Order: sequence, then structure tokens, then C-alpha cells
Amino acid sequence: MKFLGYEVNGYVVAASCPATECIENVVKCAENGAQAVILKSASSSRTNDGKKRRCYIDYEKKQFWSESGFDREMLLIDEAVELTKSAKLRTGILIIPSVCELTYDTKQWVETCKRLENAGADALQLDFFYFNDMLCEDGLKEKMITLLKAVMNELSIPIMPKVNHNLPASYIAKIFREAGVKYVSLLDSVRSVLPNNPIFEGKSLSVFGEWMFPLTKQYTKILVDSGFEVCAGGGVTNGSMAAELVELGASTVQIAMEILLNGYARFSEIEKECKQCMQKMDRHRNSHFIENRKASVNLSKCTGCGRCKVQCFCNVAKDLVNDNTQCEGCGLCADICKSGAITI
Ligand SMILES: Cc1cc2nc3c(=O)[nH]c(=O)nc-3n(C[C@H](O)[C@H](O)[C@H](O)COP(=O)(O)O)c2cc1C
Ligand code: SF4
Ligand code: SF4
Repeated sequence: MKFLGYEVNGYVVAASCPATECIENVVKCAENGAQAVILKSASSSRTNDGKKRRCYIDYEKKQFWSESGFDREMLLIDEAVELTKSAKLRTGILIIPSVCELTYDTKQWVETCKRLENAGADALQLDFFYFNDMLCEDGLKEKMITLLKAVMNELSIPIMPKVNHNLPASYIAKIFREAGVKYVSLLDSVRSVLPNNPIFEGKSLSVFGEWMFPLTKQYTKILVDSGFEVCAGGGVTNGSMAAELVELGASTVQIAMEILLNGYARFSEIEKECKQCMQKMDRHRNSHFIENRKASVNLSKCTGCGRCKVQCFCNVAKDLVNDNTQCEGCGLCADICKSGAITI
């Protein structure tokens, strides 16, 4: 498998978030099977406003709010340089620092990116999350193309801009194509206001959750179909969701919230489940092309539940015991049967 031009052994990548913001956490990502780590975003212009970051999780662990801000939560560029160096020393996986400058000034982006490349980064993510109202920016297209081209010209490692929901996928795809971008990272939280809730102090919050997943699939499909290699994410909490993104053409799947809520072991669990799902999908796909595969029922194992007859829309499964000659061997009835009575 290939990711950003490098050979990798799996699909699951650590997304930029607090789970990737210090060396202890990066080592845990690597030890638990992440194929690459996208470091917490860094900026030369972060000021640190002294306030604390705050997070809220709903009672079913299904949604996550983060009340923070650029000045409070970005890494300083010096911190990111040190983190990159020690992550390269302490792990054998791909280390991808993330850069978030608050300007369209190409010089600033190039300078920050160069420092991280020199620190040993394998690739860089470019994070535009804190560019507010990008669609209202005068001459956005030209500014973005100039910026992306300048960074790519000056660097010899791959760059992967991150797309967020504030930019329509097909619109940004055109800009990326004109700039010569090859790799794309998806998808950050949605900025939202939660009125009338006394626990929140700020004006806006980042909201994360599985509800993002349909949006993630839509962005993945559009960007893959536009010819980009996509490291897809946003709302992924299990291996079958990861497999769905890979099926849509994503090269890798990035995960943040599920790791923050349920621990680093989720990397290897999701990887395993994702690969199992992919194998299952392959089996179904390939089974159509294998001649002479016929389903048959072992009556001694059959409990008579009837699921095969109700859930398989093929007519053969309705009377499989007596006649399987028209069976095309797709394997659906065998998957549906929980008693192991049907074999192909
Ligand atoms: C607390 C927190 C901080 C984050 N900080 C960053 C960041 O600095 N840079 C970035 O590109 N994404 C950041 N993200 C977004 C994640 O990388 C990811 O895109 C997003 O959480 C959606 O994926 P998920 O549903 O797997 O969490 C952050 C996410 C969380 C939860
Ligand atoms: S569901 Fe597929 S495998 Fe089962 S009887 Fe029908 S064609 Fe054969
Ligand atoms: S699903 Fe399996 S156990 Fe149920 S009726 Fe069909 S063959 Fe029998």
C-alpha cells in the first residue's frame, strides 16, 4: 500500500489532535499500530492567550465539543520542530507535521514548512482551519494557488493540504488541480454555536461526531474522482467505516476523536476490523466471477430461522435445500446464516 509515495502496511493514520501533540503520545500512536502520525498543527504566530482548552463529551460518548482557539491550542513552531526530531528518532513510522499560518503570505508558510522539513518531516499537512470565511476572501483562488505552488516548489517532501467543510469539495478540487497538488487530507470539525448552554463560555465551538461521516464520504468521493490521493477522515469510529472510505478510494483513514475517547488501542483494532471488512467485500465481489460455486445447506446445523429465505432477494435461496442449480455463488446467504448451515 502507498501513502504520500511511501510504502505502508495499513490504512489507519493518527489525525492531528491532542493525541499527536507531544512525544509520549506520538510514541503511543506508533506502538498501537498507526501507520503515520499527523502532528498537532503548528504556527509561528501563536501567542498563547493563557486560557485553558476545554472539552465536553456527551453522555453516550457519541459527540465531542472542544472550546479552544488558535492562540490557545496550536504548537509553537519551535515545539513542532523538536517534536518532529524526537518522533523521527523514537518511532519508525511516517511523521507528518501540520502547518497552520494565519496569513496568505507565501514567505511565512515556506519558512515554517522549511524548518519542519529540515527537522526530518516525511511530509507536511497544510491546515487552513483558522482561515475564517475563506469563501469570502477576495481573490481566494489566486492566493491559494500561489501559496500552494510556492510551498511545493521550495520543498522536496510531499505536501497534503487539509480540506474542511467550509470549502465545497468540487470548488477546492479545481484550485488544487491548478496548483499541482497530489495529496489531500480530510476533514476537520464543524464550527458551531451552542446557545443557552451555561457550560460553554466561548462564542464558537468545534463539534465532532459520527454525524460527520456522510460529509466525509461525499468529500472523499469527489476528491478521489478528481484524481487526488486522499487521507480521509471525520467521524470514523470503527473499522467498517474506515473500510467504506477505502472502498471509495481513500489511500488511508485518519482518526482523532475515537482515539481521544476510547484510547490508543483503537488504532490496531480499527485497522484489523477494516482489513476484515475489505476481505469480506472482496469475497463478495470476486464470488460473482468464480464459476461453479454453489451454496448448499447442511440441515443438521439449520435452525429453521428463515433468515436466508427472507433476506436474500435471490430466488434460489428460497428453496436451496431442494435445488441449487441456478445459484451464482455470491455468498450472501452464507453470510446471513448465523448457524453456519450454508456453505459455498
Ligand atoms: C481537540 C482536537 C484538536 C484538534 N486539533 C487539530 C489541529 O491542530 N490540526 C488539524 O489539522 N486538525 C485538528 N483536529 C481535527 C482532527 O485532526 C480531525 O480532522 C477531526 O477531529 C475529525 O476527525 P475525527 O472524527 O476522527 O475526530 C483536532 C481535533 C480535536 C478533537
Ligand atoms: S444468495 Fe447467492 S449464494 Fe445464496 S443461493 Fe442465492 S445466489 Fe446462491
Ligand atoms: S439462515 Fe441458516 S439457520 Fe436460518 S433457515 Fe437459513 S440455513 Fe437455516
